[in-house]
Amino acid sequence: MPEKLYQKPKGTSDILPSMQPVWKRIEQAAEKIFAHRYQFGKIDIPLFESYDLFARSSGDSSDVVSKEMYDFYDKGNRHLALRPEGTAGVVRAYVEDKLYGPEHEKPVDLYYLGSMFRYERPQAGRMREFHQLGAESFGSDSPFLDVQIIQMALDFFHEFNLKDLVVKINSLGDDQSRASYRQALVDYLSAFKDQLSDDSKRRLESNPLRILDSKDKNDQKILEKAPEISDYLNPSSKDRFEKVINILDDFGIKYQIDEKLVRGLDYYNNTIFEIVTTDKTLSSAATICGGGRYSGMVEEFGGPQTPAIGFAIGLERLITLIDNDFKKTVPDLYLVQADKSAAAFVNKLAKQLRQKFGLAVELDYNDRSVKAQLKSANRTGARFSSVIGSRELENGLIVLKRMEDGSQKELKVNQLTGEDFI
Ligand code: HAM
Repeated sequence: MPEKLYQKPKGTSDILPSMQPVWKRIEQAAEKIFAHRYQFGKIDIPLFESYDLFARSSGDSSDVVSKEMYDFYDKGNRHLALRPEGTAGVVRAYVEDKLYGPEHEKPVDLYYLGSMFRYERPQAGRMREFHQLGAESFGSDSPFLDVQIIQMALDFFHEFNLKDLVVKINSLGDDQSRASYRQALVDYLSAFKDQLSDDSKRRLESNPLRILDSKDKNDQKILEKAPEISDYLNPSSKDRFEKVINILDDFGIKYQIDEKLVRGLDYYNNTIFEIVTTDKTLSSAATICGGGRYSGMVEEFGGPQTPAIGFAIGLERLITLIDNDFKKTVPDLYLVQADKSAAAFVNKLAKQLRQKFGLAVELDYNDRSVKAQLKSANRTGARFSSVIGSRELENGLIVLKRMEDGSQKELKVNQLTGEDFI
């Protein structure tokens, strides 16, 4: 026995070969919908960045920064963090690589797919390493774009025939509206300070808007009479939100306005949205997509004033909802060796068939019985099988058996063509 059985870190997972087809399907759907239909360009950014980048963009008081960051000092004493989300890194790249330059068509549309890391309490749909498919669009403040972006996420989900989806939408307004609402909320909640949950007490000072999505029953009761954000939107923010809503109606997108929706990261303004499933399997982690506008971040990172909007889809959550029955690839041919003396011939034949015709060929490397090899031919779902024995060796023959109907044909090995395997 080995001394120690290693286990993967809590909240991470291995993606075994059996699960790879579904991940591939996701990549293909992203290419079809994001890259092709909506003309977003793919971007890959580092898995770790300066800690400060995330702290400044997501907000010091957000849970993501205050509790969940995987941060560390490297050997050069740089304070770094594994990325908890993709937006900050993409904005950094947009500024650093000058994607705002005149040679780039506006808006500049980017998407990404990869691991994110958050030190959360692992549970169904909540992991420490998880994957997001995200999209960011820079350079337009049009309310039409808000809706096109939501439509793009829905189109992606449509590829997987997902039903039971609800689009929740809200507006935080511009900075001025958000600040006056924040004040109104603090004024109201301060009167109930002693009755609030510990988390909400803490947030009252640091991040009062986050109290709105408290799961605590008593907090929720207090919130029933809390001021509503829609009453604090200034005319231009209100007008903007109304435009978005009208376009959603015009597009026939069903949505719910959720006044309590605030999102967990601090960088948002104006439109924010989440796409939530009503499927019971994800009850505590029902949000499969979240996003919104975050104008201001590009400037904060040293770029020109640039409106921006984006979203990210949680892929592990998506996978629990989709029909996982994607076909794995099957061998075209399983070559069975009647006995050891056939091994050299069969191995050489496999090499030639793979190289010459690009066939998927499987064979045995453990001197198993013919019966066991035939069983494998069945189990792998091979389209053809062939038993190679002394007769085949002596005459350079192969008897191809079509597994589907049991029909057989005898052929000369040196006259085989790709057509014989169709
Ligand atoms: P977020 O809401 O923090 O937004 O994450 C987006 C999605 O990632 C969530 O709705 C959820 O599906 C998934 N997710 C988040 N945390 C976990 C976790 N611990 N385990 C499994 N899945 C998780 C963002 O990250 C923003 N960057 C989205 C965005 C892009 N906003 C503008 N642009």
